[in-house]
Amino acid sequence: MEVQASTSASAPAPTPAPLVVNAEYYKEIERARRYLRALISSKNCAPMMLRLAFHDAGTYDALTKTGGPNGSIRNPQELNHSANRGLETAVDLCEKVKRKHPCITYADLYQLAGVVAVEVTGGPTIHFVPGRQIRPSRKFTLLLLNFVAGADHLRSVFNRMGLEDKDIVALSGGHTLGGAHKQVSGFDGKWTEEPWKFDNSYFKELLKSSTKFPTPSNPPTGYSQQKPSSSAAGEDSTGRRLFIFSTDQALIKDPKFLEYVMLYEQDEEAFFRDYAASHKKLSELGFVPPTWTSRVITAVKNSSTMAKTAAGVAFATTAIAITFYYRQRSQRKEE
Ligand code: HEM
Repeated sequence: MEVQASTSASAPAPTPAPLVVNAEYYKEIERARRYLRALISSKNCAPMMLRLAFHDAGTYDALTKTGGPNGSIRNPQELNHSANRGLETAVDLCEKVKRKHPCITYADLYQLAGVVAVEVTGGPTIHFVPGRQIRPSRKFTLLLLNFVAGADHLRSVFNRMGLEDKDIVALSGGHTLGGAHKQVSGFDGKWTEEPWKFDNSYFKELLKSSTKFPTPSNPPTGYSQQKPSSSAAGEDSTGRRLFIFSTDQALIKDPKFLEYVMLYEQDEEAFFRDYAASHKKLSELGFVPPTWTSRVITAVKNSSTMAKTAAGVAFATTAIAITFYYRQRSQRKEE
């Protein structure tokens, strides 16, 4: 189900000045990336950062070209919706990064956090292009995923964003991280045995558990009123519950989805390749980076390589000079 909501009171929010991705902005992104790596590792918050990035981007409507990764999830009306419950902590943590790197837009920041979350948990490298504007759209379509629904619902939500079957299955693999929490979705459990490790185990569990674990069946409102029975879950080796939702199960019930599930279960590299491509697509919904952005990135990368090369040459020259000096000295002593 989708909900239309207005983001603010009567007056339209002022349009922010256009963002220019110059060398300084790109360097700031790289600094923020390093900070995020440390923050996400120390706070163990990769799953919620990935969910934050997904929920900020997931408001995109390909038809009206509104929503998308624009940082709007931090607006109280959107953040306080039950579909986004639990994400306040992720927004607050990102605020620490924003304070250190204020020139970075929230839109870039949340997507960068998602990319770093996948990277630090051992997942694929996702190519990140900066430059997302904050778009103060007065209307947005909430990402409302009904997790007791099936394949049709999944397709209608993801197709609305302009994403296809392959994207749906690959991105669902994001559930290899983290789990569900009583206070968020009303359910407690996780999809995989190692929820801090990004790998293809979600697909392995999905195929293994399809017959073992029944799924919740009472329809939720947002995520809030879902009270799955304990029979909805199986137990892992540590006694913590593994579960699958109907939307996960839809991936093995639908023959087209199943093809991808079987591929990713067998071939982790194929999963990583497709996941990285779909995640990039998700993080750039409605965002077309100007062509000169890639030139800025290449120029900054080249200049840092040149700086390293120059430092290397200086080091080598010094080393040669010292060696030469000592050789000369010992020759003089021998004479
Ligand atoms: C396909 C439809 C999807 C449905 C129905 C769905 C639903 C849910 C639900 C109900 C939770 C549990 C929230 C909680 O109780 O804390 C959750 C967690 C999560 N979701 Fe999804 N999700 C979907 C797709 C995705 C996608 C595409 C991604 C990322 C690419 C994603 C990433 C996550 C992560 C990482 C968590 C764990 C969060 C944590 O542990 O704090 N989900 N999802």
